[in-house]
Amino acid sequence: MVAVVVKVLSLFSLVVGVLSSPLSARSSGDVSAVSHDISFNNWGGLSSLSGFDNFYGSNDFYGSRNEQIIIVEQEQVCSVQEVVIIQQQLAIIQEFAKRIITQQICDVETQVIVLEQFHGNFRQFRNDVSRQSGRSIGYDHNVASMIGQLMNQDGSFNSHDFGFNGTDIGKNTVVPSGSNWNNSTSPQNVKSILSSIASNSTTSS
Ligand SMILES: *[C@@H]1O[C@H](CO)[C@@H](O)[C@H](O)[C@H]1NC(C)=O
Ligand SMILES: *[C@@H]1O[C@H](CO)[C@@H](O)[C@H](O)[C@H]1NC(C)=O
Ligand SMILES: *[C@@H]1O[C@H](CO)[C@@H](O)[C@H](O)[C@H]1NC(C)=O
Ligand SMILES: *[C@@H]1O[C@H](CO)[C@@H](O)[C@H](O)[C@H]1NC(C)=O
Repeated sequence: MVAVVVKVLSLFSLVVGVLSSPLSARSSGDVSAVSHDISFNNWGGLSSLSGFDNFYGSNDFYGSRNEQIIIVEQEQVCSVQEVVIIQQQLAIIQEFAKRIITQQICDVETQVIVLEQFHGNFRQFRNDVSRQSGRSIGYDHNVASMIGQLMNQDGSFNSHDFGFNGTDIGKNTVVPSGSNWNNSTSPQNVKSILSSIASNSTTSS
C-alpha cells in the first residue's frame, strides 16, 4: 500500500489529498453510507459468487473506505451541457448495467447482491456530491477510461480481465473544478431537493 502511494506520488508529483473516507453518522442517516462488514463469497453455495469478496475485500461491501488519490495531471473544469444529453448518457449506462446483470448472471441472488453493491457506491457518491461525506467529488480516471472496452466490435461483451479490482478504484481520482457550490446556500438547497423528492414520491419498496 505504501509502495503504491509512493509510486503514485512520484508519477504525478503532487498529491492534493489522500482521504480514507471516514464516513460519519451525519451522512444523512443513510445506512448504505456505512461500510458493510459482510461476506458473500460462495453465499448459499453459489459458484457465481465465488471470489466475490476479493474485489473490495470482505470488510467493505462497495468500496466505501477506498482511498482517493487525486491526480492533478488530469485537471478538469466542469462544462455545461443540456440536461437531456446528460439524462441520455446516464440512461445508457443505467440500461447497460441492467444488461450486464441480466445477461451475464443467472442466479437471482447474485443479481441482487451485485446490484446492491453498485447502488451502494452511487449512494455514497450522492453523499459526496452533497458534501455530506467529507470525501472528494470526482471519479477514477483509469476505470472510467475503460468504458470503450466494454464491448467487442460485434456488440458482445468483452469478457477479458480488465486488470483491476475494487480496492484500486479511487487511486487515480480526478476532481473537476468549477462547481457552483456555495457554503451558505447549497446545503439548504440540497436538503430541500432531497426532501421534496422523498416526500413527493410514493414509497415503492
Ligand atoms: C486487488 O488489488 C490489491 C491492490 O493491487 C491487491 O493487493 C489484491 O491482491 C488484489 N486482489 C485480487 C483478488 O486480485
Ligand atoms: C454565496 O451565496 C450568497 C447568498 O446568495 C452570496 O451572497 C455569496 O456571494 C455567494 N458566494 C459565492 C462564493 O458565490
Ligand atoms: C466551504 O466549507 C468547507 C467545509 O467547511 C471549507 O473547507 C471551504 O473552505 C469553504 N469554502 C468557502 C469558499 O468558504
Ligand atoms: C412537491 O409537492 C408539493 C405539494 O404538492 C409541491 O408544492 C412541490 O412543488 C413539489 N416539489 C417538487 C420538486 O415538485
